[in-house]
Amino acid sequence: MADSTPRVVAKADGTLGVMCVGLGAVASTFIAGVELARRGLAKPYGSLTQMATIRLGKRTDERAPLIRDFVPLTPLEDLVFAAWDPVPDDAYRSCLHCGVFDKHEHVEPIRGFLEAIKPMPAVFDQHYVKRLEGINVKQGKNKRDLAEQLRQDIRDFKAKSGVSRVVLMWCASTEIFIVPGPAHETLAAFEQAMDANDPSIAPSMLYAWAALMEGVPFANGAPNLTCDIGAIIQLAKDKGVAIGGKDFKTGQTMIKTVLAPMFKARMLGVAGWYSTNILGNRDGEVLDDPESFKTKEESKLGVLDFILQPKLYPELYGKLFHKVRINYYPPRGDNKEGWDNIDIFGWCGYPMQIKVDFLCRDSILAAPLVLDLALFFDLAQRAGMSGVQEWLSFYFKSPQNIPGVYPEHDLFIQQTKLKNTLRWIMGEDVITHLGQDY
Ligand SMILES: NC(=O)c1ccc[n+]([C@@H]2O[C@H](COP(=O)([O-])OP(=O)(O)OC[C@H]3O[C@@H](n4cnc5c(N)ncnc54)[C@H](O)[C@@H]3O)[C@@H](O)[C@H]2O)c1
Repeated sequence: MADSTPRVVAKADGTLGVMCVGLGAVASTFIAGVELARRGLAKPYGSLTQMATIRLGKRTDERAPLIRDFVPLTPLEDLVFAAWDPVPDDAYRSCLHCGVFDKHEHVEPIRGFLEAIKPMPAVFDQHYVKRLEGINVKQGKNKRDLAEQLRQDIRDFKAKSGVSRVVLMWCASTEIFIVPGPAHETLAAFEQAMDANDPSIAPSMLYAWAALMEGVPFANGAPNLTCDIGAIIQLAKDKGVAIGGKDFKTGQTMIKTVLAPMFKARMLGVAGWYSTNILGNRDGEVLDDPESFKTKEESKLGVLDFILQPKLYPELYGKLFHKVRINYYPPRGDNKEGWDNIDIFGWCGYPMQIKVDFLCRDSILAAPLVLDLALFFDLAQRAGMSGVQEWLSFYFKSPQNIPGVYPEHDLFIQQTKLKNTLRWIMGEDVITHLGQDY
């Protein structure tokens, strides 16, 4: 039985600094969208923290407040932004470059605000993101020195902006695939590896280490290994800080984690699932490199195995052929097209097909997730919830799970878990949908 004593949640006093690693399409769309919403120029559609309600008590109670009225979240007015990027474009230039928002309707009206967000020099190394060249980059004698400079950036930002709290959001590129190794296992080994410039320590890990050392929660929006390693999990626990990831669940995978549970719920078999994407933004260009694609591929492939459980249902899912492709196709820019062809079978083995063609907008889907994660990570921190935040799996393609249990991928189980966690934080009954007491 869950304990129904409310947790002690520190008030969201003062302002919250949201520091984005990367000021590309996702981060600039997130920051500009928040400012547009604050000025009443656009609506924050897609964001649970801004739009969704939560049922409390029995269905007959008719209590369904907005989530933001139920839990003490930082209001949009109290968000302050900063970013790092090896590309020196400020948020205005980044918005224009990425072409997500209409220049005249949504970028020019907030030009001054966007121009004031200039990226700090990044910890960047082209070895980890082959298709990018950085000029706005920190120099240091070794990886620990670079990470220390990031810590100083966090402290300087706090002092200059006067924010009371900070969260760090990885909205930067997908790095090359890194296999977990001895340098990642313990904090001591990790720190030694930083001193020795060990190649298995990627820039994203340095940001995570720096954030945690400063007591700042870290959310990983890319499929990079980053904070999904023993050393960083240990540091998060030692410092009492919230972490989580990985890889924002936005387009094709969001659809996959809705359709696959449906097939399993009805005991329909799946013979094959072919997914392909075309996209033309910088993310697409980075993912055109096989080593970065491998990182993304792992993240996208994992979901079906966990949802369909082929070991439990070998006849239905044991022979499933699953393929994911991403193709860089510049004419589409940020407007990704994701196709799925699904071969399923039903009663007595008769085959059927489903085709999905999602004409989506990558950063329009991702931006509200960055907002929700920033606000929920800050909430978790104020509620004393440290370590891996599994309840935020809802937002991730490849959710970081607590060691020893498998990750939950079904979008609606994830949503139930998220809402029940909010109820639990506030001392409300969790909802089991049993209904025997009506
Ligand atoms: N729907 C989505 O858009 C979506 C979904 C899931 C995950 N993601 C991931 O989110 C990330 C951002 O996507 P995007 O479309 O904004 O890409 P983008 O290429 O437009 O922006 C990424 C930015 O990160 C910067 N960068 C790279 N390495 C850095 C470093 N070490 N430090 C600081 N900045 C660095 C790049 O210069 C670039 O400006 C990517 O990893 C992408 O795979 C996006």
